[in-house]
Amino acid sequence: RKSAPMPQDILARKGGTPLVSLTAYTTPMAQMMDGICDFVLVGDSVGMVLHGLPSTVGVTMEMMILHGKAVRRGLTTSMLVIDMPFGSYEESREQAFRNAARLMAETGAGAVKLEGGREMAETIAFLVARGIPVMAHIGLTPQSINTLGGYKVQGRGEAAQGLKDDAQAVADAGAFAVVLEKTPEGLSNDITAQIPIPTIGIGASAGCDGQILVVDDMLGLFTAFKAKFVKRFAHLGDDGRKAIEAYAEEVKARSFPGPEHVFADEAPK
Ligand code: KIV
Ligand code: NA
Repeated sequence: RKSAPMPQDILARKGGTPLVSLTAYTTPMAQMMDGICDFVLVGDSVGMVLHGLPSTVGVTMEMMILHGKAVRRGLTTSMLVIDMPFGSYEESREQAFRNAARLMAETGAGAVKLEGGREMAETIAFLVARGIPVMAHIGLTPQSINTLGGYKVQGRGEAAQGLKDDAQAVADAGAFAVVLEKTPEGLSNDITAQIPIPTIGIGASAGCDGQILVVDDMLGLFTAFKAKFVKRFAHLGDDGRKAIEAYAEEVKARSFPGPEHVFADEAPK
């Protein structure tokens, strides 16, 4: 593929080959997935994954912009989507537009993602009508951890209809895709069949129109905890620790640096 897809291209993938996506927060990580992922998300998970925050509630616009710029520099053929952080869009449609426009202008992202279903539908429609493509995010919405009361599966039993209504509301509002986080498999499949926009699953179902994971989770770099929906495709955290132990041994044994890493007293002729 020569150029990055646009939101309409993502939308057109509804029901087709599953969309591939990951988060990224830095230039080298973005380069690693450029052209493999259809879109790359600068997730507000950056707060927990790279900054050691206890939740995503403390993530700021400045953090998102800094990491968004870094990721932008690493991408040529994947679309960039950026999360709106907690407190930057919930107050009013105008506040949401101002901050979404700033995120896009300063980072070069092609779309924003925000958390919420029916309660955010008006805001989504307002942004889309003014040139801002929006990816929605329903089910487990980590920015609401303090009212949800834990990272629990969302939409079981009586709550299933509410989640379907959320999915329909964000699709009707003009979102070009919706993330389903930690929602039951059957319900995720029902929603995927029900709405005309791609569903992007994380802890949802292989039947979704695409999948997303936090890259540090799937590489085994983030090891503070592992959600059930995370599959570690590599164990870079363990590998890194072993490498650091090997380095420490070589330093203490004076076997590093070796002859190939040091400089002669005389400049070579
Ligand atoms: O912040 C994030 O990483 C996300 C994805 C897990 C969807 O929102
Ligand atoms: Na997020």
